[in-house]
Amino acid sequence: MSVPVLTFFNNKGGVGKTSLVYHLSWMFSALGRKVVAVDLDAQANLTAAFLDEDQIDDLWERQTGATTIFRAIEPLTQVGDLKAPKLIKVAQHLHLVPGDVALAGFEETLSNMWPESMGDKSLYRPFRILTAFWQVAQMAAKRVQADIILVDVGPNLGAINRSALIASDFVVIPLGADLFSLQGLRNLGPTLRSWRSLWKKRVENWKEPEFDLPKGLMKPLGYVVQQHGVRLSRPVKAYDKWVNRMPGIYHESVLHDASPASSPADDPHCLATLKHYRSLFPMAQEARKPVFSLTPADGAIGSHAQAVKDAYSDFKSLAEKIIEEMDKATSTRSRND
Ligand SMILES: Nc1ncnc2c1ncn2[C@@H]1O[C@H](COP(=O)(O)OP(=O)(O)OP(=O)(O)O)[C@@H](O)[C@H]1O
Ligand SMILES: [Mg+2]
Repeated sequence: MSVPVLTFFNNKGGVGKTSLVYHLSWMFSALGRKVVAVDLDAQANLTAAFLDEDQIDDLWERQTGATTIFRAIEPLTQVGDLKAPKLIKVAQHLHLVPGDVALAGFEETLSNMWPESMGDKSLYRPFRILTAFWQVAQMAAKRVQADIILVDVGPNLGAINRSALIASDFVVIPLGADLFSLQGLRNLGPTLRSWRSLWKKRVENWKEPEFDLPKGLMKPLGYVVQQHGVRLSRPVKAYDKWVNRMPGIYHESVLHDASPASSPADDPHCLATLKHYRSLFPMAQEARKPVFSLTPADGAIGSHAQAVKDAYSDFKSLAEKIIEEMDKATSTRSRND
């Protein structure tokens, strides 16, 4: 049995993907789930949220061992095979497979292998490369007996993200209340459908697979409305205009049906509306902690202390909702199998 993979995805940048993966990794582990977080963005922002610069410098400079995701897959770019990644233990139930700016160099190899995986020559190598992220994430999860793998990706629809999504059982889509974020959402549904069906064809093309392959289900669990991108000077009406379009566009683009809801508040596919945490966010980044773990010693005093408590319950509810949606999707699937 493979360990479920949950990816936070939107090709629009700055919508809060990395922040969500970081906070939910901590929250899932606080709820007793064993988590492996995997940084598949060459910007390595998730890694920078967990580790300080000296630690990252050490991982990137060290000459031996698969200290990052790229080091684990790098032998595939020559004639070698995957290496088991070295995990960073962040907390008792939370481990990280660190990111790497060098990952950007893998994009071309992945692009080249995509057509080859439909060919009639030996399919071992193309499939090994296209599923490298999934294989490495599974190796990591098995080592620490993780219950779930959380993945952060960069803001694009390139070959790295296609492989990341092929590796994903579930997808959560963070959305900002603006034109560009919603335009991104319009591209997202068709892209996920296309990747899903192209992957299925490839799996069918490899009649006798020589190792386990991901199913590439990419089941959308819902969207998270993010308020942090909203400019303070912008009128509330403009915010409402974009937010109220979310259910319609999500349903049309991602689910291919008509939305019965006229606002996210009435839409069961809206997993949460996350507040703009304002100065708590930089405070948490400075302390290298999730916002909901800030203490008076970090500067969370007065009204901030209450905001920290509220953040804890907001992220707890979101994590529980995601667990519920994953459980629902898994039991529907096993009924249909
Ligand atoms: N709820 C929030 N409240 C306040 N600030 C936030 C919130 N969520 C994210 N931010 C801030 O918004 C910025 C963008 O967030 P983040 O890096 O998580 O987005 P992203 O989607 O991962 O971006 P990219 O597409 O570049 O990877 C960061 O500076 C982050 O600190
Ligand atoms: Mg990011």
